[in-house]
Amino acid sequence: MSSNTTPSIGIVGGTGDLGRGLALRLAKAGHDVLVGSRKPEQAVEAAEALTAELASRGVAHQPIEGLDNVSAAERGDIVFVTVPFGAHTPTLESIKNAVQGKVVVDVTVPLVPPRVARVQLPPEGSAGMIAQTLLGEEVQVVSALQNVAAAHLQADMDIPCDVLVTGNEKTARQSVIDLIEAMGMRGFHAGLIHNAAAAEALTSVLININKQYKTHAGLRLTGIE
Ligand SMILES: NC(=O)c1ccc[n+]([C@@H]2O[C@H](COP(=O)([O-])OP(=O)(O)OC[C@H]3O[C@@H](n4cnc5c(N)ncnc54)[C@H](OP(=O)(O)O)[C@@H]3O)[C@@H](O)[C@H]2O)c1
Repeated sequence: MSSNTTPSIGIVGGTGDLGRGLALRLAKAGHDVLVGSRKPEQAVEAAEALTAELASRGVAHQPIEGLDNVSAAERGDIVFVTVPFGAHTPTLESIKNAVQGKVVVDVTVPLVPPRVARVQLPPEGSAGMIAQTLLGEEVQVVSALQNVAAAHLQADMDIPCDVLVTGNEKTARQSVIDLIEAMGMRGFHAGLIHNAAAAEALTSVLININKQYKTHAGLRLTGIE
């Protein structure tokens, strides 16, 4: 844990679109951010670019550091996994030891290119279920953020989106909801990791809507203030 008890954040696959968006917002929210990559030099480059971006916005923030994926997973108190579904299982296997005892936030949508606008959930039920089974019960997998566009996370804007947060441990879900709120969105307890399938499936629905209406659509729950 960082000295000020604000958890540090490891982002495995953090050089990509979603990882960069999370890094910007979480560093701004006061978390040390460790951007991971298969190639550490690529992570260092990304971290420098993100730091420059926040400087150009005149935003105070915690440090963003680039390093290899396993080191990011080792040093993060909470670890996000932001890789394409095709890389999900091997990436989880590579960080399994590093994340024992931690909260792992899985944002993966199990898209099967080229038909990404069609719901194609895996036989295991969802990427979240795969992650929880693979990492084991000592890891608290929380599934979230599948329905938020990376473009919105990266932009200097309020995000008018709600986030469905699933996972088997309420305290772990709450720690992720706290991060989501610190990033400027609303997060909601949405049940056990089994329910990750719903958020993952909704992404293909949103992809259809985005194509039709040329936008980055998100979710908004009603009836809850
Ligand atoms: N983009 C969105 O708007 C969005 C929204 C919600 C959820 N998601 C989900 O978030 C995840 C990341 O999305 P993204 O758009 O950020 O993906 P991305 O940019 O295509 O990839 C993210 C990172 O994954 C690593 N990677 C790529 N192929 C890999 C492989 N074969 N093995 C290991 N690592 C690999 C790369 O990092 P290095 O090359 O540096 O290792 C890459 O920068 C996906 O599961 C996606 O479904 C995305």
